[in-house]
Amino acid sequence: MNTFSFKNKALYAESVAVTDLMAEYGSPLYIYSRGQIESNWQQFDQAFGDHPHLICYAVKANSNLGVLNVLAKLGSGFDIVSIGELERVIAAGGPYIATGLKENKFGVSFDRALALYKKAEFSKHLDVFGLDYHIGSQITEVSPFIEALEKALDLISQLKAEGIKMSHIDIGGGVGIAYNEEETINIEKYVQSVLDKVGDLEVILEPGRAIVGNAGIFVTQVEYLKQSGVKSFAIIDGAMNDLQRPSLYGSYHKAIAVEDNSKGIKDTWDLVGPICETGDFLAKDRELTLAQGDYIALMSAGAYGFVLSSNYNSRPRVAEVMVSGSNHTLVRKRETVGSLFENEFIFNNEIN
Ligand SMILES: Cc1ncc(COP(=O)(O)O)c(C=O)c1O
Repeated sequence: MNTFSFKNKALYAESVAVTDLMAEYGSPLYIYSRGQIESNWQQFDQAFGDHPHLICYAVKANSNLGVLNVLAKLGSGFDIVSIGELERVIAAGGPYIATGLKENKFGVSFDRALALYKKAEFSKHLDVFGLDYHIGSQITEVSPFIEALEKALDLISQLKAEGIKMSHIDIGGGVGIAYNEEETINIEKYVQSVLDKVGDLEVILEPGRAIVGNAGIFVTQVEYLKQSGVKSFAIIDGAMNDLQRPSLYGSYHKAIAVEDNSKGIKDTWDLVGPICETGDFLAKDRELTLAQGDYIALMSAGAYGFVLSSNYNSRPRVAEVMVSGSNHTLVRKRETVGSLFENEFIFNNEIN
């Protein structure tokens, strides 16, 4: 699947020109590809074949109702971590909410697990039937997953020896994506190496980033170009509050000019927002040909993008749009400045 691709030197989301979407919905904008979300989910699902399994999309990666609804229609389960996420999934039409609320910040330590399972087995209020874990995020090799799986299966054998039988194993999320064409996990091989070890246990997976990451882009417009001699800055209308990952984690998102502009200036640019913070950048040292008014796409921004955005500097959160073939629809409208303070009140000394 090649969801975001160039046709006649212009970036397309499926069959829609990104500039057309910008003209219709405004800038900055998150754009999601329905086809890419579906194909990412199906890749996991199909790799399991007939083996009992459930792909539970990790809602925290992108909780937009439109995204959840696409996944619900595929038969996805949902991994949720709060009442808010539960209500979203119900509103989106998600029937399989397979995993519980993870209220313990980091679960229980592996060393205590055996004793706790034994205690739980004797409780008349608890039913023990599965072992769930999650080892981290943006993991680009299979070996840490297999190491964790072997440890977990060893615990399941110990439990079996104690008469406690498990019916499922939840191996969490964490499958990394290629932000800059780096090597990452081959889903079929990963799933096969899991299947080689789990016997007849049902397998639950909680991928977030691997489902939505490369299915979304963040598009922003160049407001002004500033070449100081030492450094060249493209001041854009998107900022750290809209896409936090670069300033929060130093994350890399590929930056692409949405259209070829023969009148642009070729240089090595820092893409910086209008917020007065040194951390307000979306990309650094990128060779691009740019002119004022051009659109730039920050690629693979579908996971931990909009969900981490904020209203810092009283900036309304941007709109989100979903594309499917040649159709497109708003899945979240742009906030208005007025809406940002509609729940705020002025302390009035004169009353009472
Ligand atoms: C318990 C749990 N499951 C699944 C995920 C999803 O991880 P990812 O988006 O890396 O697949 C997370 C993310 O932190 C998590 O904490």
